[in-house]
Amino acid sequence: MKRIGPVAGIAALSLLLAACGGGAKGGAKDGGGDKGSGGSDVSVVSWWEAGSEKKGLEALIDVFKQQHSDFKFVNAAVAGGGGSQAKQKLAADLAAKNPPDTFQAHAGAELTDYIDAMQIEDVSELYKEYKLTDAFPKSLIDRLTVDGKIYSVPSNVHRANVVWANTAVLKEAGLDPTQQPADLDAWIADMEKVKAAGKTPITVGMAWTQLQLLETVLMADLGADGYNGLFDGKTAWDGPEVTKALDHFKKIMDLADKSYLNEDWEPAMNPVITGTAAYNVMGDWAVAAFDGAQKKYNEDYVAFPVPGTKGMFDFLADSFTLPVGSKNVEGAKAWLQTISSKEGQIAFNTVKGSIPARSDLSEDELSKFGEYQQDAMKSFGEDTIVSSIAHGAATPVAVSNAMNDAVAKFAQGGSDVAGLQAELAKAAEPMAKK
Ligand code: GAL
Repeated sequence: MKRIGPVAGIAALSLLLAACGGGAKGGAKDGGGDKGSGGSDVSVVSWWEAGSEKKGLEALIDVFKQQHSDFKFVNAAVAGGGGSQAKQKLAADLAAKNPPDTFQAHAGAELTDYIDAMQIEDVSELYKEYKLTDAFPKSLIDRLTVDGKIYSVPSNVHRANVVWANTAVLKEAGLDPTQQPADLDAWIADMEKVKAAGKTPITVGMAWTQLQLLETVLMADLGADGYNGLFDGKTAWDGPEVTKALDHFKKIMDLADKSYLNEDWEPAMNPVITGTAAYNVMGDWAVAAFDGAQKKYNEDYVAFPVPGTKGMFDFLADSFTLPVGSKNVEGAKAWLQTISSKEGQIAFNTVKGSIPARSDLSEDELSKFGEYQQDAMKSFGEDTIVSSIAHGAATPVAVSNAMNDAVAKFAQGGSDVAGLQAELAKAAEPMAKK
């Protein structure tokens, strides 16, 4: 039974986000107070464990300390971008009925895994208590809702279909950084020019980053409707449009530096930051890594939609849950209050590279965000929203894990397009049965 659709109603998000100003008041409701039966420790699982992501989490912890000084934040972050390790550990801990007090989960299909297993609580009451019902776009809340119950609180919205490019490397190859290739073929031709100039055309990291690249190539070749059809049975995973996309994917992977295939996103992005590689496709948490290296947007680097996906916003959102059996329910609620408050959303998202999930920030509050994020907010307001596979918006964990395995085998092995397509089709089968 498919209950949280990957795309349903999401277009309305943009309108609501654009309609900022006014609305519910954010901020600490009561400054904490009641400690739960678990005492003051609040264990929080995320995968924001290193580099620029850790800085985002730290900004949020500072707000938590101010708003809820009675509670003590216990950082249970698990290293591994995209939650690659955290989700495995969580699955084991939840199955063993040993949950943290709250944990990170992606909005959309991924949340249904925890809901179906009855591992997370309905937090609808908190939306009333913290006045969140009108603070978030309805279509985002819809992605957290099953059978009228809301199961998590969102902290941010990220975009995944972004090419990050080093301007100096592009210029060395005779390319104009202000001109974006119109489609995948034009982009691949540009990569060939970078290669001819003696630089690395593109870097790609570990499996989930390969899957993220693949989803953007699917978007480019299938268009938003065709891509969305992959999740409701309208587009065949074993059909000719997907074969065309996989042929493009193969060409790009053939041009990629293979030495990062076991590395996380930050090491794989580093050559683009330092100027030995031209391109990397990554979510917009990458902007925080460029900021950390003091690189300037539209000077040292440019960012643009993966060619062929202009007008599409590859959506994902992080949210936090209240697990069944949390030892410190009041502490977990205090964390959910902080991440949903205006203060929390501004402190976190200005550092993390994401845009706020709240749609009621004033012009003044929005002006605190950097130039890239201003562009991202604009795109979010105008573009067609499509859902990320690699980051759980479109597919349950089991499906994205199986797809991860399929692309990793393809990248490490013989680049067998037919084999990859067959494995993707098999990985997608559980969605067809729902
Ligand atoms: C995503 C998550 C982002 C970012 C990224 C890289 O799954 O939603 O917030 O952390 O992984 O680790």
